[in-house]
Amino acid sequence: MTLSQGKAIFIWGTAISAVIFLVLTYDSLVQMPKRTQEAKLDAHVAAGKWTWQKHNCNDCHTILGIGGYYAPDVTKVMSSRDNAWVTRFLKDPEKVWPNPRKMPNIHLQDQEVADLVAFLTWVNGIDTNGWPPKPMVATAVTSLSSGEEVYKAQGCSACHTIAGVGGKVGPDLSKVGGKRDKVWIKTQIKDPKSHNPQSIMPSFPKLSSKDIDSLANYLAGLR
Ligand code: HEC
Ligand code: HEC
Repeated sequence: MTLSQGKAIFIWGTAISAVIFLVLTYDSLVQMPKRTQEAKLDAHVAAGKWTWQKHNCNDCHTILGIGGYYAPDVTKVMSSRDNAWVTRFLKDPEKVWPNPRKMPNIHLQDQEVADLVAFLTWVNGIDTNGWPPKPMVATAVTSLSSGEEVYKAQGCSACHTIAGVGGKVGPDLSKVGGKRDKVWIKTQIKDPKSHNPQSIMPSFPKLSSKDIDSLANYLAGLR
């Protein structure tokens, strides 16, 4: 390669990369108002953001990739919970959800709670390209042989842990058989609200009675 060829590659390479960079930047900026729903960003939402900062919710929670990993990512929390639930929860977390892993009562004012709900609702509407990723759980399994397979296929592990693997939303099930019998577990799977009217565990109306039976058998055997 001669010196002038080298120079040409350098100059054109830099120029073309710069053009691509500028076009992509422009494209992102054009999409921004729609993706962030700028139009809905009102004073209420802004006040919620200040409240979020004032109480350092970020110490424990993540929003849009920023924050701690101690507590659930709340970027999309308003997709799974309604305003009334979050309002009640923020006023007194322990009363709503007596879990071993607790969120402290921050003693928020009513206005602060309302602002936070507005903020979380706005954040929830941001087009984040699917962030945060959902746990990968298989669905649509047709023939199942064991309770363990039903457990995997239904995504129970998104919320429950067995032998150290799984989520922390619901109780650890590693030894659930020592505490609950098969009949109780069957009722829990068919209708979680019958044991706890406030339960956030979904029911599984599409599970066949055979699958529920083998699932309950499997769990009742965990001791
Ligand atoms: C000391 C850590 C900590 C701080 C600070 C904290 N939280 Fe939490 N938060 C938690 C934990 C832990 C949970 C999960 C509760 C559970 O599993 O029972 C939680 C749960 C939540 C939930 C429900 C999430 C879900 O998926 O159901 C919301 C909403 C929430 N927090 C909002 C907030 C807001 C808003 C603030 C700031 C005002 C805040 N948190 C401050 C620890 C914290
Ligand atoms: C969205 C989260 C979530 C999913 C998914 C879920 N659970 Fe739960 N589960 C919970 C919570 C929370 C509790 C705590 C009690 C309550 O609120 O009902 C619970 C309680 C239980 C209990 C009672 C445990 C105890 O120690 O008392 C059993 C058994 C159970 N779940 C089994 C299952 C099975 C089997 C599946 C899958 C078919 C499943 N759960 C899916 C959240 C979930």
